[in-house]
Amino acid sequence: MEKKIKEIWWKAKEEISQPQTPEKLSALKVKYLGKKSELNQILKNLKNLSAEEKKIIGPLANQIKNKLKEIFSQKEEELASVVDAEKEWIDVTAPAQRVRPGKLHPLTLVQNQIEDIFTSLGFEIVDGPDVETEFYNFDAINMPDDHPGRDMQDTFWISKKENRKKGEGVVMRTQTSSVQVRYMEKHQPPLRIIVPGRVFRNEATDASHEHTFHQFEALVVDKKISVANFLFVAETFFSQFFGEKMKVRLRPSYFPFVEPGFEFDISCTNCGGKGCSTCSQTGWIEVGGAGMVHQNVFQAAGYPRNKYQGFAWGFGLERLAMMKYKINDIRLFHSGDIRFTEQF
Ligand code: PHE
Repeated sequence: MEKKIKEIWWKAKEEISQPQTPEKLSALKVKYLGKKSELNQILKNLKNLSAEEKKIIGPLANQIKNKLKEIFSQKEEELASVVDAEKEWIDVTAPAQRVRPGKLHPLTLVQNQIEDIFTSLGFEIVDGPDVETEFYNFDAINMPDDHPGRDMQDTFWISKKENRKKGEGVVMRTQTSSVQVRYMEKHQPPLRIIVPGRVFRNEATDASHEHTFHQFEALVVDKKISVANFLFVAETFFSQFFGEKMKVRLRPSYFPFVEPGFEFDISCTNCGGKGCSTCSQTGWIEVGGAGMVHQNVFQAAGYPRNKYQGFAWGFGLERLAMMKYKINDIRLFHSGDIRFTEQF
């Protein structure tokens, strides 16, 4: 009997040590530890043995039973961890999934950079509403109802243009100049602000025109501000923005809210001023309008006439982004096409 139990032990140990699957192992467990297993039969029949034999066989059979339980549970654990590893198996040769990180829109990039430069020059960044009263968009900046200057900007009217009371219409702002009087009403000079923002014009679109675009207004007011101050700020800004020394050129022009008024050009970013197809061989590229703030505008803001001087300028953000990143169609900005925005 003793020999028999030892044999069971050796056989079981041998079989368990063979390579296993979970199914094979549980069959073995039934074979060696199940109700009908030899070992259990022996334990069941202990009562038929002599007292002498019971003393030896009983403890031995129990000891083997416990040892077997132990190796089975060890083996089961081993097997479970192998199965887990198989489930988690990774094919390191499989083609990787393409990660598409988010990108900032080129206009946001340009606006951030502009804001950084102007903040470092001591300017404050100011906002204004997209939906604006006719008063701030036109009247307050020296463009009363019958002013021919209004014809320069095709306007989206929110209120009915025909039946409105004078100056009380509501428009989608056509220019960030609308923020000039809004701001000056509440602040006294000296002041240095920039106003980046969205503007709207009721125009047909093509590669260089959009009905919705962004402008960027600068306004500096103090007792002795001159065109030289404007030139200095403009050259400093454009040189920092394009990372190379830029020249600014003024040409006389007309805007109702400035006197004198200019259009300003910067040296061509493509050829550096030598003349190329981008600048139509002139060496210059037109970027925006500027001028010395009209005293009528100061008056509308509640400042006394002829006490202050200031300069203002406005230009299109899209235009700057197009020059910087060599984009040839303004309509791409609002296309929502991520193949476009991903490139910046
Ligand atoms: N607001 C003008 C425009 O949209 C640009 C401008 C701003 C001109 C400030 C002069 C001074 O055309």
